[in-house]
Amino acid sequence: MRQVKYIKRHRMELDLRHPRPPAELPPGYFWLPWNLNLLDLHAQVLAACFAGETDAEVFPCLATLPGCRDLMAAIAGRPGFCPAATWLVATPDCSVGTVQGLLDESGYGGVQNLGVAAAARGAGLGQALLLKCLEGFAAAGVKRAFLEVTAANAPAVRVYRRLGFRSYKTIYREVAVRPPVPDHVGVGI
Ligand SMILES: CC(C)(COP(=O)(O)OP(=O)(O)OC[C@H]1O[C@@H](n2cnc3c(N)ncnc32)[C@H](O)[C@@H]1OP(=O)(O)O)[C@@H](O)C(=O)NCCC(=O)NCCS
Repeated sequence: MRQVKYIKRHRMELDLRHPRPPAELPPGYFWLPWNLNLLDLHAQVLAACFAGETDAEVFPCLATLPGCRDLMAAIAGRPGFCPAATWLVATPDCSVGTVQGLLDESGYGGVQNLGVAAAARGAGLGQALLLKCLEGFAAAGVKRAFLEVTAANAPAVRVYRRLGFRSYKTIYREVAVRPPVPDHVGVGI
């Protein structure tokens, strides 16, 4: 029988007239604005950032590189795709963070898949990426931003709350529970 569990998530929103600091990166990092040629790089960074995270259980496409490629292609192909709110953060050696912006049917700006590679976390890149995304929405004339976050994702909730996002709705997402893999599988005699 298929087993499921429920993951608690918050829909958080922010009025974009709420004051916020500028999007600034620590020394050694730079911004890469959206460009269709960067679709695959966004997918690679997404796959690296979400591997093993709860959100990859909630959205299995985030768990694999092909899934992230399909997701990025779907986002970039949507009528509401907002290039001004879609960014990579890079060092001279590699890309370490991504965020995408997608407008909904009400014209609200949806922050999608904010991710920073594990080795680069805790340096303010997540906050900087979020601010850059919000700046892009504001420049596109968007009045309100929203996102969905797993309630137990403390670092993400912390970044969102600090910039003024507040929870407006609680959602429970059904997730399939994978059966545990036995210790010894298919060992021949
Ligand atoms: C959420 C995420 C983008 C944050 O990136 P980041 O670059 O570490 O973000 P910042 O450095 O700007 O801020 C992280 C904050 O979380 C805090 N934090 C880190 N681990 C924490 C924990 N276990 N519990 C509570 N707070 C924590 C940090 O101290 C920091 O807050 P501070 O600046 O007040 O000290 C990153 O953790 C990530 O990519 N996670 C995996 C993907 C994901 O879940 N994305 C969110 C989708 S909604």
